[in-house]
Amino acid sequence: MIDIHTHILPGIDDGASDWEETLRLANAAVEDGITAVIATPHHANGKYLNAAHEVKQLAERVDKRLNEEGIPLRVLHGQEIRIHDGLPEAWERGELLSLSGSRYMLIELPSSHIPKSMGELMHELAVLGLVPIIAHPERNSAIARDPRLLEELVMRGAFAQVTSHSLLGGFGRGVERTAWTLCRSGLIHIVSSDAHDTNRRGFKLKEAYQVIGKRLGESYVDYYQSNASRIVSDSPLELTRGESHVKSTSFSRFLRRLIP
Ligand SMILES: [Fe+2]
Repeated sequence: MIDIHTHILPGIDDGASDWEETLRLANAAVEDGITAVIATPHHANGKYLNAAHEVKQLAERVDKRLNEEGIPLRVLHGQEIRIHDGLPEAWERGELLSLSGSRYMLIELPSSHIPKSMGELMHELAVLGLVPIIAHPERNSAIARDPRLLEELVMRGAFAQVTSHSLLGGFGRGVERTAWTLCRSGLIHIVSSDAHDTNRRGFKLKEAYQVIGKRLGESYVDYYQSNASRIVSDSPLELTRGESHVKSTSFSRFLRRLIP
């Protein structure tokens, strides 16, 4: 299993506080059946700035350390980038990282709304050859109220990542309900842990996939796991549209009729 959204790097955001916690998280990942994680520390969220070169260097150091310790987990580099003014320019200045050097960029929305600038940002990212993956849309209250807001972004080329803890109820019943609704609507393309620590917010990826298998069927598990691998290999992601195992909603069918 591959986990594309984790806060495993030591001491640079609200994830692993130090190297010991990083090692504990790495061992927990291996126990969960994970073979590679992308380290995605917060960037530009108003609290943390973790520039590309520092993250890349630290991820390489952690990867090397795990190798020396005999912990069979690869650590790749990325960032969880909060949508902000000047994001495309920051990419051009080399301050941002995509996920493991791929075309995919992990984008965090504010928790309350979708900024008006999102449409323009998606256009600018497309011009730069980048594809946004929206981190945990189930925790955005505007999307929770109206999942069609996410559907519009997906129809315009974005992908979406749900968090294992959301599916398992770790963020409360409301977020749990939204997470499953988005999965069932075919608006989720990847499942990740967003792991921060070994106490409160570990991986729980295996458990989430088990529940997905039970509730939605094994084809969903294969679909999500395949997309996580495709991110690391920088391959096109499988789309839900046209997939027989994912139900389309009436709104997506309506949009599809408009798009040639
Ligand atoms: Fe995160």
